[in-house]
Amino acid sequence: GGTVKLAVIPGDGIGPEVVGEALKVLGAVTAGGDTVFEQTPFSLGAARYLETGDVLTDGDLDAIKEHDAILLGAVGGVPGDPRLAGANIERGLLLKLRFELDHYVNLRPSVLHPGVVSPLANPGEVDFIVVREGTEGPYVGNGGAIRVGTPAEVANEVSVNTAYGVERVVRYAFAAANARPRKKLTLVHKTNVLVFAGSLWKRTVDAVASEYSDVTVDYLHVDAATIFLVTDPARFDVIVTDNLFGDILTDLAGAISGGIGLAASGNINPDGRFPSMFEPVHGSAPDIAGKGIADPTAAILSVALLLDHLGLAEASAKVSRAVAADIAERGGATRTTSEVGDAIAARIGALD
Ligand code: NAD
Ligand code: IPM
Ligand code: MN
Repeated sequence: GGTVKLAVIPGDGIGPEVVGEALKVLGAVTAGGDTVFEQTPFSLGAARYLETGDVLTDGDLDAIKEHDAILLGAVGGVPGDPRLAGANIERGLLLKLRFELDHYVNLRPSVLHPGVVSPLANPGEVDFIVVREGTEGPYVGNGGAIRVGTPAEVANEVSVNTAYGVERVVRYAFAAANARPRKKLTLVHKTNVLVFAGSLWKRTVDAVASEYSDVTVDYLHVDAATIFLVTDPARFDVIVTDNLFGDILTDLAGAISGGIGLAASGNINPDGRFPSMFEPVHGSAPDIAGKGIADPTAAILSVALLLDHLGLAEASAKVSRAVAADIAERGGATRTTSEVGDAIAARIGALD
């Protein structure tokens, strides 16, 4: 019961289109229930920047922090738009939210639903989660350049890995693995080349493993992990990895499990000190924006993750079941964004 204060950031491009459908489904699953979602829309993104010159003000951030959770569509303008040259919406908005709200777990599940045609000839059973570190690695912006524009230019991007930051995400991944039937955890890194960070990650995994005797642990270099994601994705259960490897692996994971239009994610602050943020893995897709053809399923499945995070397991399961049923029957049909949202919302109404 009670009230959930939900910050909604539709964003740019297809963001508002898919968020509209996600909210439709949220409305359907909470209708008549005793939990009320009080929504606050936040106009943030490239469009807002072009209008006002602001990316994310302190006031925006403070207001967002007052919420219990965040639903985000996608942010980012058309790549190459000269008017955005002076701003970096991705860093200044999306990553700033992940860092300021301490979203140290970026949870990205991959499930090949029955009915989905995988680009792989023999995918086997695909059902794994990637626990991507969300607040460190090369994403911290600890870089710099000198002699820019000259033949002597040097550009550095430094990957930051702290014992504190690695341990907390590794602990989350072990707990997640322990709660799944197969109880398997794969550390993905590049310990043969990135020796300092690799050593910290490896030692941390080994240390925490001693507390989880039921969890099977293995290790793959990130390049080899891309091979197995294509040749034998069924070998994965829980993958734990750093921010950048996790970014790359989860687009691949999306592709092998039915496409980026199905891939959902949660940026989680497990401590509960700050609101967690749920969003599709995909971006603003300027190439199809405004046409009403974006697949809203990833955004809708992000609502399922959001509900689960808030402890509303039953509502979350209803959304997942309605999506699975829709996917099982969609075949090659071409539907508009709102037709998909309507169909899934209608299925929720029809569940038990
Ligand atoms: P993208 O994910 O927006 O698009 C890649 C391809 O996937 C495009 O062909 C697009 O049409 C297709 N696609 C994406 N979502 C789809 C959906 N729901 N249904 C059907 N097709 C879909 O990636 P990009 O083109 O590299 O980036 C576009 C912009 O989005 C950039 O500004 C980028 O920085 C930003 N971006 C934002 C986020 C985010 O907000 N979380 C994530 C990734 C990229
Ligand atoms: C993602 C996106 C972001 C990332 C970008 C837009 C900053 O690609 O959510 O996967 O790299 O994390
Ligand atoms: Mn990405």
